[in-house]
Amino acid sequence: MKNEYVPHPAVIESIRQESGDTKTFKLAFEDKTLAKSFDYKPGQFVQVSLLGVGEAPISITSSPSQKGFLELTIRDAGKLTHAIHRLEPADKIHIRGPYGNSFPLEEVKTKDLYFIAGGIGLPPLRSVVKSVFDKRGDFGKVKILYGAKTPQELCFKEELQSWKQMNDTEVLLTVDEADESWKDNAGVVTTLWDKTDMTTSSGAAFVCGPPIMLRFVIGKLLNSGFKDESIYITLERYMKCGIGKCGHCNIGEKFVCIDGPVFTYSQLRNFPDKEKAIA
Ligand SMILES: Cc1cc2nc3c(=O)[nH]c(=O)nc-3n(C[C@H](O)[C@H](O)[C@H](O)COP(=O)(O)OP(=O)(O)OC[C@H]3O[C@@H](n4cnc5c(N)ncnc54)[C@H](O)[C@@H]3O)c2cc1C
Ligand code: FES
Repeated sequence: MKNEYVPHPAVIESIRQESGDTKTFKLAFEDKTLAKSFDYKPGQFVQVSLLGVGEAPISITSSPSQKGFLELTIRDAGKLTHAIHRLEPADKIHIRGPYGNSFPLEEVKTKDLYFIAGGIGLPPLRSVVKSVFDKRGDFGKVKILYGAKTPQELCFKEELQSWKQMNDTEVLLTVDEADESWKDNAGVVTTLWDKTDMTTSSGAAFVCGPPIMLRFVIGKLLNSGFKDESIYITLERYMKCGIGKCGHCNIGEKFVCIDGPVFTYSQLRNFPDKEKAIA
């Protein structure tokens, strides 16, 4: 019988420093058959582990169309992630998954898409953005609003510039604390509403960031005409099993690991403890 808790070894092919405390790891499963067959959807996560150190959920940031490898963008936040940050190319980590639901790209075909991310919130959305660009003709215009505390904390700096060149795509960046090197917008991500027209009655929004940002962004989106069911939010919760067995990640009756991590605002609004979900 298949043991769902058994992780698979994966080799680090390359490491890219995104910011002071964040790196992107390109990984390939050691088992070549698994490397070829591993499939996932944008928004899903994997459980990443290092033997004797620990395990944590990490979103897949690469696009499912890129076969043979996957990318994870990891912030040095604690015991496990600190140990992962000390690894080098050719070192091994363990992975099980993919888990969770995904951003429903089929449902938003032809719509204008709005991505709003804060800090380390861009990596989960990058998988969706890349999937949209893979099939650019299937969607309307794309707007990406991304904010970080400082210019140094922005992830995927070069890629953000290349996204600006895509058809019918607008990328707006902002930082809370600008320095002399920064010539772009300054202020929290919601201040970007003053820089571009966000009004819509049919657009879909994809949101990921720290809880305080989520609250303010959802308010702005509702005021701009987005419908509750067209606002997709990816949530973080402390997890253990990742497969709906241990109960660690519950919000009311929902388990973030299997019912989420992507929820619409219409779902979130009805959680008994809505404030806890985005706090
Ligand atoms: C679905 C999902 C996707 C994620 N995707 C990513 C991703 O793409 N990239 C990424 O970098 N991170 C991601 N995370 C977050 C990541 O899983 C956590 O930061 C994880 O705790 C890191 O493990 P660690 O052992 O390094 O840190 P930990 O030792 O767990 O510490 C991390 C921080 O959390 C605090 N903490 C630890 N346990 C608790 C607790 N029980 N209650 C309150 N605070 C606690 C610690 O004090 C510390 O500040 C994701 C989380 C989820 C649920
Ligand atoms: S992490 Fe165990 S039920 Fe969700």
